[in-house]
Amino acid sequence: MSYLEKLFNLDGKVAVLTGGGGVLASEIGGGLAKAGVKIVFLDINEEAAQNAAKEIEKQGGTAIGLKTNVLDMDALKETRQLILDKFGKIDLLLNAAGGNMPGANITPDKTVFDLDIGDLDKVTDLNFKGTVLPSIVFGEVMANQKSGNIINISSMAAMQSITMVLGYSAAKAAVSNFTSWMAMEMSMKFEGSVRVNAIAPGFFVTHQNRAVLLNDDGSLTERSHKVIANTPMGRFGEASELIGAVLYLASDSASFVTGVVLPVDGGFSSFSGV
Ligand SMILES: NC(=O)c1ccc[n+]([C@@H]2O[C@H](COP(=O)([O-])OP(=O)(O)OC[C@H]3O[C@@H](n4cnc5c(N)ncnc54)[C@H](O)[C@@H]3O)[C@@H](O)[C@H]2O)c1
Repeated sequence: MSYLEKLFNLDGKVAVLTGGGGVLASEIGGGLAKAGVKIVFLDINEEAAQNAAKEIEKQGGTAIGLKTNVLDMDALKETRQLILDKFGKIDLLLNAAGGNMPGANITPDKTVFDLDIGDLDKVTDLNFKGTVLPSIVFGEVMANQKSGNIINISSMAAMQSITMVLGYSAAKAAVSNFTSWMAMEMSMKFEGSVRVNAIAPGFFVTHQNRAVLLNDDGSLTERSHKVIANTPMGRFGEASELIGAVLYLASDSASFVTGVVLPVDGGFSSFSGV
């Protein structure tokens, strides 16, 4: 094994990816599988999770797709048992289930006083609680194993205010905060054997934001033009560009890295806009 292969070696590891039927998690899962990781995709949409797993199997990797709601503690525990029965361990958790709700947005024709409190609850539940609950259920396995890795998905919206997305931004800020809290907890109480980090993707066109970023004919919306103007690299990200960040954080090359939120954003978060 070469020096680089050893540094980033993940061969034989078992990874659980929530929201695994989604665009970003399925792409990241594909990358991990190519590195020899056994993949478990969890999604509330069973068909999407299974399709993502089939794609990996087609390419010779090992993957399964299971229906699991990240907000259902009992379902998560049942799934944990299934995974342990099949693979015997859990090395990596990628908390990728997440998304927005229309009523938790403040569109230009509305003000904050029109906020739909029900949708605010739903969006904070999905993004924040939907990260905390799997971290508890699968993190407990890692704490007992005295090894493991949790990677959360935050967002640019967690770092500075972005028009419209009130609820989603607050929920992702909570994910970033939880990342550092959980990193501290796992390091201080479990001998530093479980690391917790996050990636913060910039703008990637996926199911959840296509309508906001692209017009029906595929051209950029007014909002997209603003995003691109504030992204020094001048483009959206490709889902495959998240794989390297996850491989790095999950591998021993990041053995002293915990509690960080790593932007993968073409420079968006560091740019003044001027
Ligand atoms: N696309 C972007 O530009 C972008 C930027 C920053 C962060 N993110 C975050 O990345 C993550 C993945 O997003 P994506 O763009 O691939 O979205 P996506 O909509 O393609 O995937 C999200 C997946 O989560 C699943 N899901 C929803 N509720 C669930 C639940 N209760 N239990 C289990 N699964 C559930 C959905 O079925 C879907 O398959 C999300 O947390 C999102 O907020 C995306």
